[in-house]
Amino acid sequence: MRTVKALLASAYVTTVRLNQTDNAVSFDSDALVVGVHTGPDGLIAAPGAEGLDEALGGRLAVTLAGMGAKGKPGEISKIPTFGALTAPLLVAVGLGDAPAEGAGHDAETLRRAAGTAVRALAGTGRVALALPAASAGDAGAVALGALLGAYAFTRYRTTGEQTAPVDELTVLSGAEGAQAAVERATTLAESVSLVRDLVNTPPSHLWPARFAEIAERLGTEAGLTVEVLDETALKEGGYGGIVAVGQGSVNPPRLVRLAYNHPEAGTTLAYVGKGITFDSGGLSLKPTASMDWMKSDMGGAGAVLGALLAIAGLGLKVNAVGYLCLAENMPSGTAQRPSDVFTSFSGKTVEVLDTDAEGRLVLIDGIARAAQDEPDVIVDVATLTGAQIVALGWRTAGVMANDDALRAEVVETAAEQGEGAWPMPLPDELRKGLDSPVADIANLHPERFGGMLTAAIFLREFVPDGVRWAHIDMAGPAFNKGEPHGYTPKGGTGAITRTLVGLAERYAGE
Ligand code: BES
Ligand code: MN
Ligand code: ZN
Repeated sequence: MRTVKALLASAYVTTVRLNQTDNAVSFDSDALVVGVHTGPDGLIAAPGAEGLDEALGGRLAVTLAGMGAKGKPGEISKIPTFGALTAPLLVAVGLGDAPAEGAGHDAETLRRAAGTAVRALAGTGRVALALPAASAGDAGAVALGALLGAYAFTRYRTTGEQTAPVDELTVLSGAEGAQAAVERATTLAESVSLVRDLVNTPPSHLWPARFAEIAERLGTEAGLTVEVLDETALKEGGYGGIVAVGQGSVNPPRLVRLAYNHPEAGTTLAYVGKGITFDSGGLSLKPTASMDWMKSDMGGAGAVLGALLAIAGLGLKVNAVGYLCLAENMPSGTAQRPSDVFTSFSGKTVEVLDTDAEGRLVLIDGIARAAQDEPDVIVDVATLTGAQIVALGWRTAGVMANDDALRAEVVETAAEQGEGAWPMPLPDELRKGLDSPVADIANLHPERFGGMLTAAIFLREFVPDGVRWAHIDMAGPAFNKGEPHGYTPKGGTGAITRTLVGLAERYAGE
């Protein structure tokens, strides 16, 4: 398993300390991070910064204002402390408007501020965060934002920056329960960072069998039961969709099943992830400009793996099963052809009109297999359609379901975790367009419009009656093609991992 170890030998910091001091002035670090709010009469130092202004001779707000700081989210000001504080550098990060009297701080504002500050401190050794953390939840938010902001993917560089952006992170908080909150943040950050690593890893270094090996190794270490079906087992088992998508590649497909059981669990959740380790489109080949970031097409399977590991790490009182539908979508003499028909795991036949609509083909086998576990809900996660990006942009996933309450639950959970997601409908009139003249259903709708919805309607056909199912299309959110922001780096984001963990927490009654 040397390969797995090497893959995960990432350079970023993976732990954050908690220090209960209420004296940030004399806390020993290389940089101290504080928050500033926009106020009606200028900047206001946020809770956590008590005592600092006095130590700086009452000049904190006027100094920041003189530098042009407004306290807006995303804003960073660095001030040398000339010995007035133990830390030589004070970093003020904007938090926007102060919360209303009596209201707490918004968790996502804190996560983003911590992430922004840590990213701005790349190259600094020890970073201490004196952001608002009067409650355990706030301390956890600061810790999570800091850890996710400290992520860097440097594994394939032989020159330049190869080390951790910062050496050490400390959250200053005296809140009751802060230790547990920081530990939860650490577990989540570990999973999200793993998903980012997997998404960022080039397809030359991550193909289905390798992904399965990593899942098996990490899953087993975490106490999960892991089963891997290889191409022979997939053919024998009737997984026609996964086989069809994978048949064009020299790197054959895999289906991984990860199971976590808690003896007192009352609910079983099934998560199914799209794991296309590279999506060339197959014979319905993508144009060059759409292809270079298709290494991210396994982000759904990444999120499912990351979530299962976190659920086990947190010891949640639920049962959770994860399916990773892994294949490489390539054109070749053995590739599936437009107009081919296969029999899916459910028994239904599918006409493949477009080999680039492959995600739905692997997912229907995963969904039908997951249903055999008789879970209370099935949630699938996939970088499924460009239409999701057209409809909702880069940062908001679409959530569709055959159950209104479940859809609302997924959207609410995403919001709680600070992940963008929005409810989308499954209009019945779109089903007819998927009729095939030769098979039970076709994988392509003649209308391009509403492409996110028609993909979901296709999936719904493979969910057995009476099973509650939700589908998350995160084609945009999985990969950040733009500049880093908040705690989100360029490249793999680890999107929806936290939502899946949050859902499990909800069903565990946490
Ligand atoms: N993996 C893509 C979807 C995608 C696009 C993900 C952009 C991330 C960013 C998916 O397999 C795909 O190719 N979908 C097609 C479906 C179409 C052929 C019906 C699409 O969206 O164009
Ligand atoms: Mn595709
Ligand atoms: Zn795809």
